[in-house]
Amino acid sequence: MKTIQLPAAKALPMTLDEALTKRRTNRDCTAEALCDCELAALLKACAGITSEDGRRTTPSTLDLRAVSPYVLRADGAWRWNAVTNMLEQTAEADVRKVSTAYQFEYVDKAPVTIVFVADQERAKNARPTGVYVDAGTMGQSCYLAATSMGLAGCVRASFDHEELRKAMGLAEHLEPIVLFTCGRPA
Ligand SMILES: Cc1cc2nc3c(=O)[nH]c(=O)nc-3n(C[C@H](O)[C@H](O)[C@H](O)COP(=O)(O)O)c2cc1C
Repeated sequence: MKTIQLPAAKALPMTLDEALTKRRTNRDCTAEALCDCELAALLKACAGITSEDGRRTTPSTLDLRAVSPYVLRADGAWRWNAVTNMLEQTAEADVRKVSTAYQFEYVDKAPVTIVFVADQERAKNARPTGVYVDAGTMGQSCYLAATSMGLAGCVRASFDHEELRKAMGLAEHLEPIVLFTCGRPA
């Protein structure tokens, strides 16, 4: 399996109050790659481990931590290992365009889409809405981190879950449920 060691997350300079006030959806971004420290900051914001018992920056239904971020870039699909801060490749192909039902030009241009993937086997005793709430909090954390770093971002939910699962090389119990697309503002 191909892996990439990410550097430490870029520090987020804004106050929480400023990031909350400035947060907006922005789909107008360039194709320029994000640096890996910016990607690491987005991933830390949505699922970084912040205590020895494994709890994270975001809450999770029944403390199951059943939703995890994956990354789509031109160089493939990747699972983020929060313990090692490594990307672990799940597919070699660029599958960004499979992550939308209609916004093909935008998602193909934006350098990074983070996919919030629910482990439905792990979440089987939770309410069906639980993983969506988990992913929603993760999306907001990504928005705040992106805002703080001056990046343009958008939460997205219009895509075919099954088609994307297959394209990302994921097992059947792993369901992509929500996305966060990010790039540098145009
Ligand atoms: C659950 C959810 C799904 C969304 N899906 C999409 C989407 O598929 N494509 C898109 O461009 N924006 C999507 N959005 C972004 C909304 O259009 C955006 O949040 C809304 O227009 C309000 O703008 P704001 O985020 O700047 O406040 C989604 C937002 C949420 C919360």
